[in-house]
Amino acid sequence: MVKTTVSMIKADVGSLAGHTVVPEPLFRIARERLAEAKEAGLINSFYVFNAGDDLELLMTHFKGENSEEIHGLAWDTFKAAADRAKELKLYGAGQDLLVDAFSGNVKGMGPGVAEMEFEERGSDPVVVFAADKTEPAAFNYLLYKVFADPFNTAGLVIDPRMVVGFKFEVLDAIESKTVVLKTPEESYSLLALIGTTERYMISRIWRAEDDEIAAASSTTKLSLIAGKYVGKDDPVCLVRGQSGFPAMGEITVPLLHTYLVAGWMRGSHWGPFMPVGLKDSRCTVFDGPPRIVALGIQIADGKLASDDEGRPMIADIFADPAFDLARREALELASHLRRMGEFEPARLGPAAMEYTTLPQVLKQLEPRFRKA
Ligand code: 13P
Ligand code: 13P
Ligand code: MG
Ligand code: MG
Repeated sequence: MVKTTVSMIKADVGSLAGHTVVPEPLFRIARERLAEAKEAGLINSFYVFNAGDDLELLMTHFKGENSEEIHGLAWDTFKAAADRAKELKLYGAGQDLLVDAFSGNVKGMGPGVAEMEFEERGSDPVVVFAADKTEPAAFNYLLYKVFADPFNTAGLVIDPRMVVGFKFEVLDAIESKTVVLKTPEESYSLLALIGTTERYMISRIWRAEDDEIAAASSTTKLSLIAGKYVGKDDPVCLVRGQSGFPAMGEITVPLLHTYLVAGWMRGSHWGPFMPVGLKDSRCTVFDGPPRIVALGIQIADGKLASDDEGRPMIADIFADPAFDLARREALELASHLRRMGEFEPARLGPAAMEYTTLPQVLKQLEPRFRKA
């Protein structure tokens, strides 16, 4: 049976009013490009949206993961949108396109990628997470809760296909190596790694029973590619739901409460993760707080399940009063943290600040230091 691939590829190619939001002219270019690709039979369906200032291309196709054609399509689309952003003198035009020429795969070139190829079940619900003003490790807490915490996910206790647990692939971003850990047996070791969000991030998760893919997350660390601060990585993540996987509600319930993630203003501060609907997917106060959107979709016959007019059907999950509590908590935490200004722990620690413009300021002061 032919397998379907879901590709979520994103980049910040320029935005309106600083790093606030993707404006309509860039959406239009993305929609046109992807509509052409659909017409040409390269992709089967697509949905274009934004997480703050990041342009998000959700596509389904039969080309598999890491397809040069699909990555090339995304790259060309981002290039075209970045060109328009330059014409409009939008902020950070072309920000995440870190190299000049495409070389087969957008990984390592700036854009973020989460992809999953699978044989469709009778019904295949998927949650697409996209975040702005934070980094891929922001999903560590969320994914641990969903796939390893029985107080979050009833299915780990109740569903016979889930009690065996899950396998987590963790990337060490500093040394560029991965390790696979199995829960529940190794959940403490897993936490020992992924609690260090500066360095370790969950890249993939499989159901232990049959090694079926359950989740995939982008792992781009722009600062490590560019060797300097070029904006935050603003990650994406795909999670499969229901019958043998966590239920949709188990995937989203971690955001009943906020939690702190690295990013926010100048990528240099801890900030509360705020779940929002698509209409509120823009970063304003202190360039945030870091925001996360969640789209509920169904994959059907290689496509995003679509309505009678052929438009993909999207459940805008966080556009719901059920997440008001997390939003209020996020704003309260935001206001506490902002009172601290540039004092740690509101500001990130020195290791993370290495990749910001702070070292330049410290360098200016260097000649004035006298031996104590
Ligand atoms: P339904 O009975 O509505 O299908 O729900 C089952 C379920 O697993 C809810 O999480
Ligand atoms: P982005 O990574 O979303 O472009 O934000 C950069 C920034 O410096 C925000 O203050
Ligand atoms: Mg930006
Ligand atoms: Mg961004």
